[in-house]
Amino acid sequence: MAFQLPDLPYDKSAFGEIISAETFDYHHGKHHKAYVDKTNGMLADAGLEGKSLVEVIKAAKDKGNKGLFNNSAQVWNHSFYWLCLSPTQQSPSGELAARIEDDFGSLDEMLAKFKDEAVGHFASGWAWLVLDGDSLKITSLHDADSPVAHGMKPLLTLDVWEHAYYLDYQNARPDYVETLLKKAINWEFVAQNLDGEGIGRADQKG
Ligand SMILES: [Fe+2]
Repeated sequence: MAFQLPDLPYDKSAFGEIISAETFDYHHGKHHKAYVDKTNGMLADAGLEGKSLVEVIKAAKDKGNKGLFNNSAQVWNHSFYWLCLSPTQQSPSGELAARIEDDFGSLDEMLAKFKDEAVGHFASGWAWLVLDGDSLKITSLHDADSPVAHGMKPLLTLDVWEHAYYLDYQNARPDYVETLLKKAINWEFVAQNLDGEGIGRADQKG
């Protein structure tokens, strides 16, 4: 067994100009696939064959195996990111909407804070909405680092590596972040993640 590149949960042309099919060809078909292949190439030496992806990420972190940590965390982060996106515009509802109001004041406040974090994050990394203890929190992590390695429950992420937006937005990271937050978030998936479901859906057995 080895880790597999998961299929996109939508057609690669579904987002039109918001995220082009060409971006998916590179980002999913080349970048994400390379992280899967590199992770698989390191599992035997690390003695971690047959473990789940999240188990590999945590073990690689504990062992200080940076190469395996970076590649396996990128596999999981990207699998989670695809699930966070929807070509059908949605908005938060139910418990998620109530928690956003409680912790940020309003959805607009939360989105503004998320955008600031994503745009202000220096160089490569990921912006996250997480459940940390009992509170929603916005944070960003560098390079491949992932909330699953820090005991936080990830709810939503945006990839802010240049490879995520350069073909469609060139260097305009703020436009990429704002457009996706307004038009392309799968809030139904984000709500499911309050119970930790997304951690498992982006995980797989190696
Ligand atoms: Fe990426």
